[in-house]
Amino acid sequence: MRIIGTGSSLPSKTVTNQDLMEFLDTSDEWISSRTGIRERRVLSNESLLQLAFGASKAALEDAKLSPDQIDYILCSTVQGEWVTPGLGCIVQRELGASCPALDLNGACAGFIYALDMADALLKAGKAKRVVIVCAEAMSRIVDWTRRETSVLFGDGAGAVVVDGGEGLLSIRLTTRGDSEILHMRAPTGNSPFEGNPAGQDFLHMAGQEVYRFAVGACVEDLRALMGETGLTAGSIDYFLLHQANLRILEAVRSRMGEPPEKFPHNLERTGNTSSATIPILMDELNRSGALKPGQTLALAAFGAGLVNGACLIRWNP
Ligand code: ACO
Repeated sequence: MRIIGTGSSLPSKTVTNQDLMEFLDTSDEWISSRTGIRERRVLSNESLLQLAFGASKAALEDAKLSPDQIDYILCSTVQGEWVTPGLGCIVQRELGASCPALDLNGACAGFIYALDMADALLKAGKAKRVVIVCAEAMSRIVDWTRRETSVLFGDGAGAVVVDGGEGLLSIRLTTRGDSEILHMRAPTGNSPFEGNPAGQDFLHMAGQEVYRFAVGACVEDLRALMGETGLTAGSIDYFLLHQANLRILEAVRSRMGEPPEKFPHNLERTGNTSSATIPILMDELNRSGALKPGQTLALAAFGAGLVNGACLIRWNP
C-alpha cells in the first residue's frame, strides 16, 4: 500500500488562547507552556461534512483520480455529523462516488487503524484504491466551561488516497480496553426500560495518565517497528506523531535521539484534531514540498480505547 494523494480542510474560524481567556480562567502562558497550542480552528458556519468532503476532494485531485476510480471510502471519526448514517456515506454522495463507504472510530489513532484496514482491503483484492478521510468536530464534544479539556482541541479533516503500490513497510496496532482515563458516554435516549438516562456528556480525560500512556506507547511502537524492519531512527526522515501536545512530541523525540526538525508539528495552529492530526500535517508537508520520493516516514498515534498504533512508510506517491 502506498499513499498517492493528500488533502485537508480546516474551519474558517480561528480561536486563540487570548479568545479563551474571555470566558475561561486560563492564560496563554499556561496553555502554550504546557501544550504548545496557541490557537485552534473550530466549526462555526461550516459543517463537519463540508470539511470531510473538502479534504477528500483535495486528496483525489492530488492523486489525479476521479471519484469513479475509488473502490472504498473509510471515514475515521469520533463522532460524525449524524449518529446514523455514517459520515463516510454522505461524503460518498457529495463526491459523486458509488463505492462502499464505512465509518470507523479508532479515536485519535483512527488514521493508523484505517491505513491497516485499507491495506487489508487492497491485499484481499477487494479494492484497488481507497480514500481514507479523518474528520473530527472536537469542539462539539468538549465541555466549554472546563479549562482542563476545552483548550486542547480543534476541528478539522485530513484525507489520503492509497493504492496497492510499494509504500507501507510495517504497521503495528495495540488496543487495551479502558473506559476510565479518556472517555465520553453516548446519549442514552428516552427508553422507559433503561434506568438513569445519562443525558448530555462531554469528554473526560485524566491528563497526566494520558500523558504517560502516550509517551510510552509511541516509543514502544516506534522501537518495535524499527526492530522488525531493521531501520534505525537515524534513517527515518520524518516522525509524524499525533498532534496532541508539544511536550509529548518532545519526550518521544528525546527518547529517539533525533533532532527537532525531524518532528514537524502544526498543533500550535490547529490544536488536537484527534484522528485528523496526522493526515492534516502530512498534507501540509506534501503541499509545501517537504516530502520527497524515497523518504521514510514514521507515523504514531494514541487515543481513547485505549488504542495506539504506528507504521513506517516509504513516501512513493
Ligand atoms: N488553564 C489554567 N489552569 C489550568 C488549565 C488551563 N487550561 N487546565 C488545568 N489547569 C490547572 C488545574 O486546575 C490545576 O490547578 P490546581 O493545581 O490548582 O489544582 C493545575 O492547572 C495543574 O493541572 P494538571 O492537570 O496537573 O496539569 P498538567 O501539568 O498535568 O497539564 C495537561 C495538563 C496539559 C492536560 C497534561 O496533563 C497533558 O498534556 N496530558 C496529556 C493530554 C493529552 O495530550 N490529551 C490528548 C491525547 S488523547 C486524544 O488525543 C483524545
